[in-house]
Parts: sequence; C-alpha cells; structure tokens
Amino acid sequence: MSNIISGKELSKTIRQTVKEDVAKLLEQTGKVPHLVVILVGEDPASLSYVTAKEKACVKAGMKSTLLRKDETITEDELLTLIRTLNDDPDVHGILVQLPLPRHIDENLVIETIRQAKDVDGFHPLNVAAVHLGLPGILPATPKGIMTMLKSTGMEIKGKNALVIGRSNIVGKPVAMLLLKEHATVTIAHSRTVNLKALALQADILVAAVGRANMVTADMVKEGAIIIDVGVNRVDDKLVGDVDFDAAKEKASFITPVPGGVGPMTIASLLQNTVECFKMIETK
Ligand code: GUN
Repeated sequence: MSNIISGKELSKTIRQTVKEDVAKLLEQTGKVPHLVVILVGEDPASLSYVTAKEKACVKAGMKSTLLRKDETITEDELLTLIRTLNDDPDVHGILVQLPLPRHIDENLVIETIRQAKDVDGFHPLNVAAVHLGLPGILPATPKGIMTMLKSTGMEIKGKNALVIGRSNIVGKPVAMLLLKEHATVTIAHSRTVNLKALALQADILVAAVGRANMVTADMVKEGAIIIDVGVNRVDDKLVGDVDFDAAKEKASFITPVPGGVGPMTIASLLQNTVECFKMIETK
C-alpha cells in the first residue's frame, strides 16, 4: 500500500510561494513577470494546456499574454515575432506551444528564443546546462518530477532509477537530473529488450511513454517510487502509463493521473518565469 504524491497539493504550495515572490518583486522593481505564450493552430489539447498556463500566471499575480496565430503562419513570420518579443523589455518569458505545424522547424524556433526568456528550458544552451550540471532554466516537467521525488524525503543517492522514454522534453532531461542527484540511471525506450527485468531493479521508476497502463504491477519492485508522466485518454477518462490501482499496492510512493505530474509542470513553469524575470530585471 503506497503513499500518493499529490501534485495537486504540492503545486498549490509552490504557486503560493511564487505569488509571494511576485509581490516582493513588484515592490522591488515596480514590475511583475510577463509571460507571452504563442499558440499556432487550433489543436484543442494545446489550447487547453496554454489556457491552464495563462490562468495559473494570472492567479500568481503575473502578467500573461496569449498570442494565437493561424496555422498558415510562415516560419519567417513566427521567427520575426519571437525576435520582437526577445527585444521587448516588457516581456520576461516566451513559450511557443509545441507541436508546431510541419512546415515550421521546431529546433529553429526554440534556438531563436533568447536564452534568458526561455521559460521552457528547451534552448540548446539551457539543455547544455542540464547536461553539464550547471545552473540554467530546467524544463518544467522534469523540474516538477524532481520536486515531487524530493517531497517524499527518500534519498535518491545510490538508488537505481529507470526512466522509460527518451524524449527531449522529459526522458533525457529527467535522466540527467537523477544522475546529478547520484542515482544509477537507466533509460529504456521502445527498442529496449526485457523491460520487465530492468523495471524490477528500479527503486525509482519514471514512466514517460504515452501508452496507457504499459507499466503493470508485475514490473514494479516492492517499495519503489513511481512517477507517472503519461496522459492517455481511454474511454473518455485520463489515465497514465502505469496501472495505478495495481501498482500502488507494491510502490512506496506513486503519483496519480490526473493530479500528479500535470499540475507540477505548471507550477514549475511559474517558477521558471520568476527566474527569467530575476535574470532580466535584477541582475
Ligand atoms: N507541448 C507539450 N508540452 C509542452 C511544454 O512543456 N512546452 C511547450 N512549449 N510545448 C509543449
């Protein structure tokens, strides 16, 4: 029987701290952090994500602007918009919601965002900082995952960690952050042979694949900490990558879906926006 790590509750505490930080920064500088979110196209899932990000910003006392662009926007037009925001002293964070239409090079878009305004932590210089273990803006989901792991009070050092998934947004950076905390890290993916044997060794298991219930209870080591990053729609219900009901009987700690990693990603984005503001306004 395990403890549930509630991202919903933990994120409330973080958002309250961010709100207090914003109030202090307003006193110090006369300004509040301003996040600009660019959404290209009409994808309903992307629209609901960016709406949640905007609402959270406003609730924390920050300024938020959503720029919606038609999916026919050219790559040049989008890059010009980003350059304008890079140079705008009233803007502290720029987030371009991914994925972008196929005619736009995502890497080029990410590289064009000024590093100090890269609230997503996707810019190559911020990615390099994570790999080198240097200070930089951490991508929001991995940052939220590390905050959740630390909230358990369990030691990460020396533990076997298995990250299932090798995306640039979650799998690779979370593996690096676990390594920085001295875990012994394995990254598994779609070509991994005998995933079950690896999973049974894992004291910490991070599932970030996007396949409903792919981690079953027979793959969980007794007492493991399980972080479920998956968000999958099954019969109009949101479920994670882990078979939660069965896995919770073996894990020591487990995150639910929904109410786990998702709210932590938003809370971490708010923290990043404050960090970018401080880099720009107070250094
Ligand atoms: N699409 C899905 N997750 C993310 C994210 O964290 N940031 C951006 N910019 N796009 C996303």
